[in-house]
Amino acid sequence: MSDFNELLGLRDDVYRRPLETALQRLGVGPGWRCADVGAGRGDVAIELGSIVGRDGRIYAVDVDPAARDAVAEAAAQYAQVIALTQSVEDLTLPEPVDLAYCRFLLLHVHDPLVALRSMVASVRPGGWVVVQEPVTSAGRIDGEALSMPSARHPDIGALLPRLVRECGLDLIDAWSESPAGAGPGPVRKYMEELSEVDPGDAAVLLPPLVTVLAQRPLP
Ligand SMILES: C[S@@+](CC[C@H](N)C(=O)[O-])C[C@H]1O[C@@H](n2cnc3c(N)ncnc32)[C@H](O)[C@@H]1O
Repeated sequence: MSDFNELLGLRDDVYRRPLETALQRLGVGPGWRCADVGAGRGDVAIELGSIVGRDGRIYAVDVDPAARDAVAEAAAQYAQVIALTQSVEDLTLPEPVDLAYCRFLLLHVHDPLVALRSMVASVRPGGWVVVQEPVTSAGRIDGEALSMPSARHPDIGALLPRLVRECGLDLIDAWSESPAGAGPGPVRKYMEELSEVDPGDAAVLLPPLVTVLAQRPLP
């Protein structure tokens, strides 16, 4: 898992800003119960764990058992972070959560709508669903469009506002952010990891990450 881990670490660096904006908008704080679905090694889950404190609870869910082991090791000092091996399609949490979150997950699943509905069902009425997914083909290297043939839905980010409404959620806000750069720095390093090609001094526009804030209506 070493390449995988390094890539996620870089992702936390270059795509950190929209995550912070989303968490601030919601007012995530002590005592919140959250699920980070498709958590990978748990960078976001651990961040959430530090925000919600000992009275909160974070379920870091991933279909890959190796991810659960990585989270368990990385979150050793956070008793409130609990790593679970489950697929998003079969998500079954011990309690309803205030926030179900995913990032870079829906582009890989078989059916994004099924996955999203499963996340919605895990949230209490009045709770939040936050989704962050890319529009891969809108990324550029020196003006040339990127492609990501390994992803089932590489441009799923562009559909998120409609998908959350189809799941019965109230769409509260949605926006996209694209880190950009040229020459040495985190953007070039991230692109090199993603494409396995060093972009050198080319202008790099990373895939826009669409963030959607949606709320489950009260009955
Ligand atoms: C690209 S990583 C993203 C990790 C993390 N969300 C982040 O942004 O750093 C995608 C993760 O989704 C997990 N995954 C893929 N399909 C899944 C599914 N059907 N249910 C749960 N997790 C899944 C993978 O095992 C992987 O850890």
